Formats: sequence, structure tokens, C-alpha cells
Amino acid sequence: MRSGGGLILGIESSCDETAAAVVRAGSEVLANVVASQMALHANYGGVVPELASREHLRNIVPVVRAAMAEAGVGFAELDAIAVTEGPGLAGALLVGITYAKALAMALEKPLIAVNHLEGHIHAVLMEQGTGVREQGSGNSVEPMLALVVSGGHTHLYLAEFDEKARRTTEILPLNKAQGQNDERKIGAPESRPSEAWTGHPVLWQYRNVGRTVDDAAGEAFDKVAKLLGLGYPGGPWMDALARSGNPRAVEFKFQQIKMKGKHAEGDSPCAQHFSFSGIKTAVLRYIQAHGMGERVEERRRALGDALRANPAMRPEEALREMPEVFDRDTLDLIASFQYAVVGNLMRQTFAAAEVYGARGIVVSGGVSANSELRRRFAEEAAQRGLRVEFPTMAMSTDNAAMIAAAAWGKFVAGEFAKEGLVATPQLRLG
Ligand code: KG4
Ligand code: ZN
Repeated sequence: MRSGGGLILGIESSCDETAAAVVRAGSEVLANVVASQMALHANYGGVVPELASREHLRNIVPVVRAAMAEAGVGFAELDAIAVTEGPGLAGALLVGITYAKALAMALEKPLIAVNHLEGHIHAVLMEQGTGVREQGSGNSVEPMLALVVSGGHTHLYLAEFDEKARRTTEILPLNKAQGQNDERKIGAPESRPSEAWTGHPVLWQYRNVGRTVDDAAGEAFDKVAKLLGLGYPGGPWMDALARSGNPRAVEFKFQQIKMKGKHAEGDSPCAQHFSFSGIKTAVLRYIQAHGMGERVEERRRALGDALRANPAMRPEEALREMPEVFDRDTLDLIASFQYAVVGNLMRQTFAAAEVYGARGIVVSGGVSANSELRRRFAEEAAQRGLRVEFPTMAMSTDNAAMIAAAAWGKFVAGEFAKEGLVATPQLRLG
């Protein structure tokens, strides 16, 4: 295989996963390798940025090599390299960007910078085959509402086809479309790659129509799990244990988010914002008020010992093997917390879908792996006659296939990264 097959090597290192993937034409995943640092950070109950950067440095070369070997692709056959520009941890992002830049320069291949949040959305589009369409064909999910919900983010985006951008890139010759300044772009080809493609990748434009004003939803799952002495990361533990509790046992209320003083410029008056720090504090108060502190500490010790002996122990296994550490009050509290958080995510998302006339909803990011969230979103969407899509489990959490998929439209449009590309920890989408 020679280059020209639409092969993009994606690299992702924004948080605690070093990942590389090879994706053909934004849709066919040839390899998707993820080296997780979860076990390392579990010792500290959260991601330690310095350790994350060090691990990325250690893992990046073997992870890229493994992806290339799995795909059966040589470096010369690649058409482009895509890398996460942000948002994320500065030092972690820097490892991926520096490596990707060096590789692109050495191979004289174009480099494409990808927003991690757009990557999460493209994880779904890639799997649904809606990231690419034949020229002129319609797409039933547009306008689309995307909920990106993970350990670091809770964002709602209204996504529409960027018809204007697509026309512009089709009409202008590459050198003009690239922009007014002359800053060099690594390995950018002389002619627009789109000339070789008939299937048009969809270029989307995004508008942020909701975001968390404090903690991300996944962060709330992780913090509450920590308060209850559970394993790390907390989301999968809460999900598994919630099945054994009563979701109506404890009533948690979400206050309406008032954006007084926090109203950002350009915020729509209809914006559906989120707040998750209140419910975390409510759980802490509940633990204190109901004298659950001692049982929490016992559980923390017992689970800590069990996880040290068997770090791969699943929550279901823990519940089966040591039922004595999971008392009824705790299981009910977990189920009630999850019920409330999922309910809040649903209310805001479906309200936004109505306000903006969305035809389809995409839910992505680590928390989209939650089984109750998937079930309840699907039920509600069916009732409203809306389409809702989730990534497969492997594509829910951080990976590089989603980065390579999101890069495809940019590749065809000739949107290449400049030599001066830097990590942008607070990069925004829309
Ligand atoms: O997307 P991701 O891998 O990394 C970020 O970009 O943050 O998401 C990780 C987050 C963690 O907070 C984790 O607890 C949460 O996703 N998570 C879950 C589940 N699986 C992962 N939360 C709730 N239920 C789950 N099943
Ligand atoms: Zn993520």
C-alpha cells in the first residue's frame, strides 16, 4: 500500500491514556492501541499530571509502533499525522504534540491538530458512518446535539454541517485557503488532497450551548466514589453497584444554574448549563448525617487490600466476594446519586434538543459508558422520536481512533497544523 489510501495516524495524550491509531478515510479503524495509566494513578486517587507526562514519554514510541504493526502499515504509507492539540494537561499534551511534529517533519507528511472534544464526537460519527457522506447526500442527524461527558468535560454542542467552509475550501486553491499568513505548515502537499476524493467528509461547525460551571459529571462520579471508599476511577464502580441499590431512596435536587457573574460573552440565553459540585457536597453531608463514616473507612481498607492483591478486580466481583462491605445504605446512596446525575444530564440535553430543533443526539466521553445513562437516554429519545447514538464501550473513553477520524475532514479540506503548533490546555470548541 502506498500513501494515498487516506491513512491517518492519530496520536492522543491529553490526560492519562497514551494512544495511537491508524484510521483509513475517517471511517475504517485498522489499529487502535491504548496504554492506560489507570493503575498508576489509582494509587493517588486521581491523575497526577507530572506522572502522566512521564508515562506518556515512556509509552509514546512503543504505542505508535504497536499501532503501525497492528495496522500492517509502514510510516511511508501514511497520508497524514493527527494529534490532540487540547484541551488537557499541558505536559501530557506536549509529549504527543512534540512527537507528532517530529514524526511529521521527518516523514514530510502533513500534521493535523485536533480538538479532543471534537474527537469524542467523531468517535460516534466514525462508528455510525455519518462522519463521511457521498457528495450531495443528506444526513439524518443534522442538526445534531452532542453531549460530551467525561472526567474533564461536560459540554453540550449544537453541530451543523459547515457548508460555507466546505464550499470555500473547494473553490480556493490550497495556498490561499490556508490563510493569510505565511507560517509554514509541516509537510503540507502542494495540491488539495480533496481532489482525489469523491466521498466528502463532513466538516462540522459547533456552537457551545451548555457546559458545567464547576465539576464535570465524571469528576462527580469519581469524587463521590472516593468519598464512599470505592475503587478508581469511580464511574465504573458506581455504575455496577448502583444496580443493587434503590434509586428512589435518597432524593437529590439540582438547582437551576444561574449564570449571574459567570455569563460568558456569546452565551445563548437558552444555554443549558450544568453544575455537579452541589450534589457531591450533598452526598458528603448525607454520609456525615447518617453516621456512615466508620463503614466507609472499613470499606476503604478492605477494598484497598483486595485491590492491591488483585488490581484487575471488577466491582461485580467485589460485590460477590465481599458483600459485607457494601451495606444497603451505601448501595441506595450510590443508586440515588447516579439516578439524579443521569436525570440532570437528560433534562438539560433534551431541553436543548427541543430549543434548537435537533434531529439527532450524540452522547460521548467516558461517562457515556454508563449503563443507566444509555438506557434512559434511549428510552426518552424513542418517546420523542429522536435518534440517539453512543460510541461502543472502547470508543467511549479516550482513544486515538477518534482523533484520526476527526482529522479526516480537515485533511481533505487542507486544514494543516502550523510549525508553531503548541499544546493548548484550555482549547475550546465552538
Ligand atoms: O473520556 P475519559 O476517558 O477521559 C476524560 O477525557 O476525562 O472519561 C473518564 C471518566 C472518568 O471520570 C470515569 O469515572 C468516567 O469517565 N466513567 C464512567 C463510567 N465509565 C467511565 N462514569 C460513569 N459510569 C461509567 N460506566
Ligand atoms: Zn476525553
